Amino acid sequence: MSFSIIHLADLHFGGVADVAQIEAVEALLPDLEPEAIVIAGDITQRARHGEFLRARALVRELERTAPVFILPGNHDVQWWWRPFLPFGSGRKYEKYRQYFGPQLTPTFDLPDAVITGVLTSHGVTWGSLTPRLRDIAIKGHLPKKEVLRAKAVFAHARPDQVRILVLHHNVLRGELSQRMGLARWKQAQREIVDAGPEIVLCGHDHQELTDDLHGVVIACTGTLSTRTRGGRPPVFSRVVVEEDAIHVEYYRWAPEHRVFKRSDRFQFARTLKRNPARDVEEISAQKS
Ligand SMILES: [Fe+2]
Repeated sequence: MSFSIIHLADLHFGGVADVAQIEAVEALLPDLEPEAIVIAGDITQRARHGEFLRARALVRELERTAPVFILPGNHDVQWWWRPFLPFGSGRKYEKYRQYFGPQLTPTFDLPDAVITGVLTSHGVTWGSLTPRLRDIAIKGHLPKKEVLRAKAVFAHARPDQVRILVLHHNVLRGELSQRMGLARWKQAQREIVDAGPEIVLCGHDHQELTDDLHGVVIACTGTLSTRTRGGRPPVFSRVVVEEDAIHVEYYRWAPEHRVFKRSDRFQFARTLKRNPARDVEEISAQKS
């Protein structure tokens, strides 16, 4: 098998978006022939109608190449609506839903892969608060019910399907920022691994980083905007899954040519190819 996904995040339509980069992505992606395209949140800068409109135009264009999976990042949520109140929190996502439909965390059941998302962008909630005031509305948090839903999706994945989890906030500590994307990150890491994905796709930190976490390949992609970290070039990722290996490669922006060029590539053995959740189900089915 060979299954490939384009992984974008943090486009931030609005003041920091770069039209040349967006148009270069639109031109290049059909040639890469991906089976799916993932946008891991922060498609807008301030959740404004004009930003969502442009984001939707991009998604419609990319859908001509492959199905596009998208979920909201912290910038796409109108977090100033009813912070801390348990009721009426749906208002925060009203604009996002107006442009991308009711489902905040879709599930794609593809011939070679099952892709599902967990919502970590909840605006200002008790679960996302940390002692640092500047974290307000920026840190994500991973509710238990989100993890359980993803786990149930993966438990029903066919043995030949790659299990891919998408979330906005970075699961690994940013190299330059030295920051984790999620509040209570150790617990979140444990729960993410326990949900049973083979690959996790995230963004938020604006710096790309790929590593192995207990056998799960965690791919944090960088930003497609002018707001890069440490003056590094904007970047997007391509994840290629083969029978026994997972490859993550970065396409970095070359401003002199106004194109994205393929650069470094990381390879991992598929240690979690067998579906652990499904194994548990099969064992309990045999016992009963
Ligand atoms: Fe973000």
